[in-house]
Amino acid sequence: MSLDLLREHCLDCRACGLHRTRTNVVFGVGNPRADLMFVGEGPGEQEDRRGEPFVGRAGQLFDLYLDAFGLSRAEVYIANIVKCRPPGNRDPLPEEEQACMPYLEEQIRLIAPRLLVCLGRIAAMRLIRSDFKITREHGLWFDWQGIPITATLHPAALLRNPAQKPLCFEDFKSILQRYRALQEGQPT
Ligand code: URA
Repeated sequence: MSLDLLREHCLDCRACGLHRTRTNVVFGVGNPRADLMFVGEGPGEQEDRRGEPFVGRAGQLFDLYLDAFGLSRAEVYIANIVKCRPPGNRDPLPEEEQACMPYLEEQIRLIAPRLLVCLGRIAAMRLIRSDFKITREHGLWFDWQGIPITATLHPAALLRNPAQKPLCFEDFKSILQRYRALQEGQPT
């Protein structure tokens, strides 16, 4: 299966109730061969409208972080745990995450990133550990099916609590250090 074919399947998905209220499926964007892949929670209102992840206010903040570290959307890959917007921006339900996970798992398998970064608690609880504590464990490295994985604070959480921005900045530093070392073929 190619990433394009997976996207085609996903655009027709009715595996959970979120298909009833979505405007667009938000499959993911970026470099299909990215070494660095970010995973958020799920589309919000703007993302649902445009079919692209992280294009609302939180996305604008995320873009600033990418920019500050010399990264572009074209270089990395950005996806979410659920591909359709939970109404009213509620957290996705466990059964919605469960129904959507095969898409993300296949997406990761096809892109084969060398580093995975969870944006926020919901992605970390799904990909790292169900009892993951974002405030205590952000910036630490774990393993997802052989791929190093870490989590940082969700940009929407940083908008609510700007005092946490330096924590995210430190996480990005560590992520970029690993990323650049991998690209240069150095041990991490
Ligand atoms: N928040 C997310 O987790 N993902 C998006 O795509 C947008 C906002």
